[in-house]
Amino acid sequence: MSKLNFAIIGTGGITLQNHLPGLALCKEVQVTALCDANAATLEAARQKTNAPIYSTNWEDIIRRDDIHAVIIATPNAFHPPIAIAAARSGKHVLSEKPLALNAADARQMAEEADKAGVRHMTAFTYRFVPAMRYLHHLVGKGDLGKPYHYRSCRLQDWGTRNVGWRQQKKLAGTGEIGDMLSHRIDFAHHLIGPMKRLVANLMNLTPIRGGAPNDTDDWVAILAEFSNGASGVLESSKLASGVNESWRSPDRVELNGSEASFSFTTGCWNELQFGKVGGPGLKTLPIPREFHVWPGSPRDPGVGDPLVSFRYDQAAEFVNAIREQRPCSVTFHDGANAQAVTEAAVKSAELKQWIDL
Ligand SMILES: NC(=O)c1ccc[n+]([C@@H]2O[C@H](COP(=O)([O-])OP(=O)(O)OC[C@H]3O[C@@H](n4cnc5c(N)ncnc54)[C@H](O)[C@@H]3O)[C@@H](O)[C@H]2O)c1
Repeated sequence: MSKLNFAIIGTGGITLQNHLPGLALCKEVQVTALCDANAATLEAARQKTNAPIYSTNWEDIIRRDDIHAVIIATPNAFHPPIAIAAARSGKHVLSEKPLALNAADARQMAEEADKAGVRHMTAFTYRFVPAMRYLHHLVGKGDLGKPYHYRSCRLQDWGTRNVGWRQQKKLAGTGEIGDMLSHRIDFAHHLIGPMKRLVANLMNLTPIRGGAPNDTDDWVAILAEFSNGASGVLESSKLASGVNESWRSPDRVELNGSEASFSFTTGCWNELQFGKVGGPGLKTLPIPREFHVWPGSPRDPGVGDPLVSFRYDQAAEFVNAIREQRPCSVTFHDGANAQAVTEAAVKSAELKQWIDL
């Protein structure tokens, strides 16, 4: 089998933590080209990969016809132009989330990729958490019954430190809602279905972070109604002092339905909490072994930190979708749907009213 040549555009944090280790497990892939606007960051990634092609200008990479697929891991503002150019030149594209700064651009990315006939994927990495996958399976086979409530709460302690491009609206679009809540908006769609309307508030409680202006939200809450009648309550904050951050801090999703309740915490990757209607309360439900790794992933679930290594399954899914000429499990349409909710939440907070989706 001939190898797939991959390019990575944006070789900062998430590329080193997630994309490179994930691709390293995919034997049929070679990372051939790298791009980063920062020459020192690019050089560090080049030394790690020995990729023969590298540039600080993404257009140099996209115009090449020896690249088959592109991973975009730049600040959010650059996702749409790079993704659209890549699709138009026939390259499969995985873009980091949030897909864009607004819903129209995200929708255009999905449409252009469909038109070009390339595989497209949004990096909603938490779809690959074993507990999350098992929960989706149980909901799909009816164990929840009629969905009543979706609840998600993501709390981190980022204090008032400078978070670089993430605190600049022109590069990030939004703050906490796009950076963190976008994953939980996607869970909501995945587990319950589309939202019908919402009301939201966003707050910027740290207009200066690390001595530099911050014009993005630190906290967001959404109250939603789903098309199937279920309710949604979603909250996310950078300012939950003392609770730690990343996968060591609280990240919880709860579902209540007519038959049962389920709850999952990202830190408890191999269990759910489960209770039957009228029963004595929640008890632990272990995740069956077949859910510990994504179908088709070469990863050994017994190797590495399970709170990190599930993320590597994302690369395997992208590569397998390219090989099997089928849609990825999480497409640009999923990313665009989450972006539409984000945009509606921002509008709701500005207008102080409910917004229909
Ligand atoms: N899926 C997840 O769980 C997850 C986790 C973290 C970050 N992300 C997303 O990944 C993206 C990158 O985040 P990060 O934490 O790696 O940020 P980062 O700042 O560590 O890395 C971004 C890199 O992009 C480079 N860059 C900036 N403009 C560029 C351009 N025009 N062309 C090429 N390179 C450019 C920067 O020099 C930097 O090295 C963001 O969209 C973020 O939301 C997703």
